[in-house]
Amino acid sequence: MEKRKILLHLDSDPQPSVFDRVVAIDSGVEEVLSYGNVKKDQIMSMVHGCIFTRHSRDLHHTAIYIGGSDLTQGEELLQEIRQHFISKWKLQVSVMLDSNGSNTTAAAAVRAATKHIDVGNVQALVLGGTGPVGQRVALLLARLGAKVRIGSRSLPRADSVCQSIRKSYPGSHVEAVSTASSSDGPLALKNCELVIAAGAAGALLLPHKIRHTSTQLRLAIDLNAVPPVGIEGIEINDKAQHRDGLICYGAIGVGDIKMAIHRAAIQNLYERNDLILTAEEIYDLALRL
Ligand SMILES: NC(=O)c1ccc[n+]([C@@H]2O[C@H](COP(=O)([O-])OP(=O)(O)OC[C@H]3O[C@@H](n4cnc5c(N)ncnc54)[C@H](OP(=O)(O)O)[C@@H]3O)[C@@H](O)[C@H]2O)c1
Repeated sequence: MEKRKILLHLDSDPQPSVFDRVVAIDSGVEEVLSYGNVKKDQIMSMVHGCIFTRHSRDLHHTAIYIGGSDLTQGEELLQEIRQHFISKWKLQVSVMLDSNGSNTTAAAAVRAATKHIDVGNVQALVLGGTGPVGQRVALLLARLGAKVRIGSRSLPRADSVCQSIRKSYPGSHVEAVSTASSSDGPLALKNCELVIAAGAAGALLLPHKIRHTSTQLRLAIDLNAVPPVGIEGIEINDKAQHRDGLICYGAIGVGDIKMAIHRAAIQNLYERNDLILTAEEIYDLALRL
């Protein structure tokens, strides 16, 4: 008998995300086992519950999803999970990391950007670059060869994101820039052809008057759907909409692509039992959609 598709949904927040559960079910998962407030020391028994309950030939019917608002905690959970797999006996299951939708949203934003410009040859600015989504956007842009400025109200926070990207991609062109005051904006935007705003919901990061200081900007993508939006003048439903000489995407415009990527990634987990899907793998999967 074909085994049911089970998703072990581990969330670092106290309340496991309803959004992630619904998307799992819409992606064809038959049973979602959700746990909140998950800590590293609980992982071993959870992984054992996955790998010792079904024959290795059936383990592609079980998968793990890591969510929650803290990307660092999500990464730690992933690392711990991998330690408890017994790969030489094929006792492992596929895993996807998408803390706060960071990887799927970043993949969607960068994928949208590549439809309009040669991302490998641009100067880009990521506003809100220290959040889970912004960090992943910056990582994916740097991986594609873009020169990336990471904007934050705190230069040390942006710098620590740069360091982490350089660890994964030595030689990548990443630079921390301050966005603490309105006079910082024009400098951060200077020579940028692409801006992606990944600021907190309801935070305006790029007002009109600063945006208009740039003559080279061609593409603006805003991921914040909660008014006021992150880039003034963009509408949340914009999808390759031309405005004031710019190609614009709003949060819902990118959201359609994000949802398709999210569902495809979940479905992919059940094709084998040894996939690990993080930012890069999810982006590569998005290229095939
Ligand atoms: N469209 C979609 O499908 C989709 C999916 C998931 C998420 N999202 C949206 O993507 C955005 C990023 O998500 P996230 O979880 O990474 O966001 P987040 O962690 O809440 O915030 C990102 C960054 O915004 C900055 N920030 C926070 N409050 C601010 C304020 N009042 N003014 C200016 N900057 C502020 C902070 O950076 P500093 O403190 O370092 O400046 C923070 O690290 C959110 O708007 C979220 O709703 C969209």
